[in-house]
Amino acid sequence: MAFERVGVVGLGTMGAGIAEVFARAGLRVIGVEADAEALARGRGHLERSTGRAVDRGRLTRERQAEILGRVTLTTSREDLRDADLVIEASPEILRYKVSLFEELDRICKPETVLATNTSSLPVTAIAAATGRPGRVVGMHFFNPAPVMKLVEVVGTVVTAPGVVSGIAELAGRLGKTAVAVGDRAGFVVNRLLLPYLNHAAVLVDQGMAGRDDIDAAMKLGVGLPMGPFTLLDLIGLDTAYEVMGVLFDETRDRRHAPAPLLRELVTAGLLGRKSGRGFYGDE
Ligand code: CAA
Repeated sequence: MAFERVGVVGLGTMGAGIAEVFARAGLRVIGVEADAEALARGRGHLERSTGRAVDRGRLTRERQAEILGRVTLTTSREDLRDADLVIEASPEILRYKVSLFEELDRICKPETVLATNTSSLPVTAIAAATGRPGRVVGMHFFNPAPVMKLVEVVGTVVTAPGVVSGIAELAGRLGKTAVAVGDRAGFVVNRLLLPYLNHAAVLVDQGMAGRDDIDAAMKLGVGLPMGPFTLLDLIGLDTAYEVMGVLFDETRDRRHAPAPLLRELVTAGLLGRKSGRGFYGDE
């Protein structure tokens, strides 16, 4: 499978990070957003992320310009017609993704692989909405996408032979390690990580220990780069809450019930870094 032109639909934190990863690896990227305002925000993400690398002496200005030059930004999904691969990184709403994939299926050439960056929604349901279910997979990146080395490649019972390995090979070209995972809620990483983060919210809610102490305990006692509340703020409390909801729906395991404190913070609009305040940000 030859992937040279890649479309990214949705240029929020994850989509913009994914676009950067592809452009850094020398591929041409078509970044799509719904309107001019969202497109400008996406451009801002790309410029800030590569700009930070320049400030740190990790990237020259020339190379930054080269990377940004490989990304074409557009509000027209029709511009994806010649893409070899399209990755969707839009909000985690199944009916929205299904209708988006129906449209991508109509627009893109028949050989195009359509991938979703969903954290937890069923890839099979998205694939089944298209006329090419064998060429629809999950390609799940981690936040921050330019830094984290893993990609989960999600195959379904109808994925065509060679598609998962083709996407895994592509991940290798991006400098990432791919793991093949089945289409079960949360895949591997979120299935294991999110219940731990959720449980941290339960413990703080019960007054068992404070936020800063729990973060320090897990960082220093386990050698993690971030404590659970810092990580929840990075992931986004809304995303964490949604993933827990999907895990609970599939498993009906009480331990997967979303923490009431998470729900409370999300309802109040405290989503973490993306909104400026979550578990942190009130100091
Ligand atoms: N975009 C691009 N680059 C970034 C970045 C971002 N948002 N944040 C950090 N970086 C880069 C920095 O530029 C720096 O690069 P250099 O070393 O080349 O200069 C490097 O990452 C390290 O950054 P910092 O020195 O600023 O900070 P740090 O050492 O604390 O590392 C971190 C930051 C990489 C985020 C680290 O704390 C970490 O690995 N945290 C855990 C993140 C994690 O677990 N992510 C997975 C979340 S789960 C998920 O995403 C799945 C889902 O579906 C919900």
